[in-house]
Amino acid sequence: MESPNQTARERIGGGPEVRHQTLDDVMSNSTYDWIDISSKDNMDAGISPAKRSKIDNGTVKDSDLKTYHGYIEEDHDKNAISLLFSTNEEVGALAGCLKVFKKHKVNLSHIESRPSKRGKDSYDFFVNCDSHQQATFKEMIDELRVRTTTLKILTRDGADEGPGSVPWFPRKICELDRFANQILSYGSELESDHPGFTDSVYRARRKEFADIAFHYKYGQAIPRVTYTPAEIKTWTTIYDKLTELFPTHACREFNHIFPLLEENCGYRRDNIPQLEDISKFLKDCSGFSVRPVAGLLSSRDFLAGLAFRVFHATQYIRHSSKPMYTPEPDVCHELIGHVPLLADPIFARFSQEIGLASLGAPDEYIQKLATCYWFTVEFGLCRQEGEVKAFGAGLLSSFGELQYCLTDKPALKEFEPSKTAEQKYPITEFQPVYFIAGSFDEAKEKMTAYADTIPRPFSVRYNPYTQTVEVIDNKNQLLSLTRTIKGDLTILEDALKKVGKSLTAD
Ligand SMILES: [Fe+2]
Repeated sequence: MESPNQTARERIGGGPEVRHQTLDDVMSNSTYDWIDISSKDNMDAGISPAKRSKIDNGTVKDSDLKTYHGYIEEDHDKNAISLLFSTNEEVGALAGCLKVFKKHKVNLSHIESRPSKRGKDSYDFFVNCDSHQQATFKEMIDELRVRTTTLKILTRDGADEGPGSVPWFPRKICELDRFANQILSYGSELESDHPGFTDSVYRARRKEFADIAFHYKYGQAIPRVTYTPAEIKTWTTIYDKLTELFPTHACREFNHIFPLLEENCGYRRDNIPQLEDISKFLKDCSGFSVRPVAGLLSSRDFLAGLAFRVFHATQYIRHSSKPMYTPEPDVCHELIGHVPLLADPIFARFSQEIGLASLGAPDEYIQKLATCYWFTVEFGLCRQEGEVKAFGAGLLSSFGELQYCLTDKPALKEFEPSKTAEQKYPITEFQPVYFIAGSFDEAKEKMTAYADTIPRPFSVRYNPYTQTVEVIDNKNQLLSLTRTIKGDLTILEDALKKVGKSLTAD
């Protein structure tokens, strides 16, 4: 699903670079916040319920001890489109526009408004249309133009930009700041079946966390949070349960790093560690960093972060009434489940590989990569010393599923990206199928080979010195890459000679 405040796509390669406008570019004359009005009763003409995550399908019992850990699946509706338009503040102006959508049978999955700075009597509207009939789309737009003072069409897939166009992706690490405006739901917006839905104190707290992330910019220190005694109690319950299982259920690398986090980052049963401390630790270990995120990101945006070795982490904690259940990723899932392995250099390379493969990939491949991510980073198993162990964060942060995954109930398959990418999976139940990776190195090699099959007219390489993604699609870049590799080979040759000598001396 496309997000509110969607960044319009940019094109790379194939002629002059065209930078499409972002929402803020388009509406740069406004300083007001957008207000989500999708659910307002008087806006119901033609509006379908907002499609956020698919976490509310089915009922999850406490006894399931199940945690939802996924991010968002891309919406593959090729006809999906977003529109920006402005109307004058007159009675019935918006209702008139909504009638046009209804007339053309276009469902709106999201709608936001804000006062426009074009004039005090003007309002800007941003809408996501689920789909549209190509045949009548132009007709609908023409009708809308009559009723609006400005109208812009935003799309995200590359289909309408001609051959060779590629979905926009960040090239510099600071461009990840844009994702803060592209979250699919704000942290304080809870679904009606969320354990904290009726708790006004919890909702206010969630907004505090969401605001931190929403205003966070690359390079800043992540604000420290003073967690309340009730929040720490929830953490303690989870921490005690999970740490019982780690020695027997978690992979070797996880069990190596977890004590280091206790030593260096304040991991304790009575303390919720701070993202800033964790980020510094990860930077030292593997070059990864974390940044707070206010809500759910699209798969494309989340995976793009991994290309820069940046992990988007939530900072809030689940509702205290159900400490062993959360319908969304929370600080327990991120810090206990994800962080330990992000410190492992080989796992970090594997994670980054998925991220790099996603940059500019067509939507259907984003879905495939997200599925590979799901069955490895979230729910992966591996074989070590003849035993199956868990390395997926979804398993390592769920007491119930961590036990279940190593029983004979689920089916086990070898991790093979081309096949894993096609596997369907439930998101509110324990997984019926898990994939086993031989090692992180092997998984990374397989992902690299799989990435070669993704149709992209260029290669990408991460430059850690400049923290940029280099798009390699011309002769000069190839020559530059050759020089870099030559330099590395010289170092390798020199090291081999010296190590060789010392081995001979031994
Ligand atoms: Fe996760």
